[in-house]
Amino acid sequence: MLEYRFSIAPMMDWTDRHCRVFHRLMTRRARLYTEMLTTGAIIHGDRARLLGFDASEHPVALQLGGSNPGDLATSAKIGEDFGYDEINLNVGCPSDRVQDGRFGACLMAEPELVAEGVAAMKRAVSIPVTVKCRIGIDDQDPEVALDMLARRVIAAGSDALVVHARKAWLNGLSPKENRDIPPLDYDRVYRLKAALPDMPIIINGGITSIAEATRHLKHVDGVMLGRAAYQEPWRLLSADLELFGEPAPHAAMKDVFGAMMPYIEDQLARGIRLHSMTRHFVGAFHGVPGARAFRRHLAENGVKPGAGVNVLRDAIALVDDRAPASMAA
Ligand SMILES: Cc1cc2nc3c(=O)[nH]c(=O)nc-3n(C[C@H](O)[C@H](O)[C@H](O)COP(=O)(O)O)c2cc1C
Repeated sequence: MLEYRFSIAPMMDWTDRHCRVFHRLMTRRARLYTEMLTTGAIIHGDRARLLGFDASEHPVALQLGGSNPGDLATSAKIGEDFGYDEINLNVGCPSDRVQDGRFGACLMAEPELVAEGVAAMKRAVSIPVTVKCRIGIDDQDPEVALDMLARRVIAAGSDALVVHARKAWLNGLSPKENRDIPPLDYDRVYRLKAALPDMPIIINGGITSIAEATRHLKHVDGVMLGRAAYQEPWRLLSADLELFGEPAPHAAMKDVFGAMMPYIEDQLARGIRLHSMTRHFVGAFHGVPGARAFRRHLAENGVKPGAGVNVLRDAIALVDDRAPASMAA
C-alpha cells in the first residue's frame, strides 16, 4: 500500500504536465494525477496533446470523467497504452457541466453504474483502477452512501479509493464553494478504513501541510494533497523525508529550478510558451527575501511574447541565495 501513501490531487487547469514535472522534482514518491479528462475528449480529441507526458512524471495516474462503461474501458486502455500507471475515475467533481454529462459527484447516487464502469475498466487494463469520490452528495446519509459506493467499487475490482472528506452539494454551490463549504468529516473516512481493512483508503480535503498528512496516516493508507501542494509547492520538499524517510530529490527550490531548466528549454523549443510553465511557480518561494520580487518578475515578463528562459533565471536571481529556500512544512 506504500504506493498510495502520498499523492497530489487531480486539479483541472493546474496539474498539467508542466506542473507535474515541477512537482516531481520536489518529491520522488508522490503519486501524481492528471487533470480530469472526459472519455469524450480522449476518444475523439487530440490524444497526443491531451495525454502526452514526460517520462520523469512516473508514477502518474490518468483521471477520467465519464460514466458509460464502454467509453471508460476504451479510454482506460488508451491511457494504459500511453504509459499511465493508474486509471482513476472521478466521482467527486460537482460542476454543472459535469452533471449534465452524468459524471463526477452526481455518480455518488449511482453506485451500480460506477461499479459497472470500474469492472469494464478492470477488464480492459492491467494497471490499477481507482476511484475518487466524496462522502456523499446533497441529502445522502454519508454513513450509507459512502459505504455503498465503496463496497460496490471494491466488488468490481477497484484497487484503491480516494475520499474527499466532505459532501458535494450539487444544488446551489459553485465548484469552488463545494471545496470549502460542506464541512470536512475525516472521522467518516477513518471509519471507512476501519470497516475495510484490506482496501487502500486515501484521505483528501483541507490537509494543509506534510505534518498534518503524517497524522492522517495513523488512520488511513494514504493522503492526497490538492491546493496546499499547488499553492505552496515548497512544502513538497519535505514530503519524501517526512513520509518515507528518504531524502528529497533536491535540497532547495533553486536546485529544483536548476534541474527543471533543460525541460523548460526543451518545451520552449517545441513552441510551448514560457508562461504555460512558469504560471505554476507562483508559490515556489515562501518566507524568503525576494519571493515577492520573483513573483512580480514572472508576472510582468513571463507573459511577453517570445519570453525565454532568461526571464525565469532573472526572477530566481532576485531570491536571496543565503536564506533557506524551503521552510519545513
Ligand atoms: C483548481 C482545482 C481543480 C480541480 N479539479 C479536479 C479534477 O479535475 N478532478 C478531481 O477529482 N478533483 C478536482 N479538484 C478537487 C481536488 O482534487 C481535491 O479533491 C480538492 O481540492 C480537496 O483537496 P484539497 O483541500 O487538498 O485541495 C480540483 C480542485 C481545484 C482547487
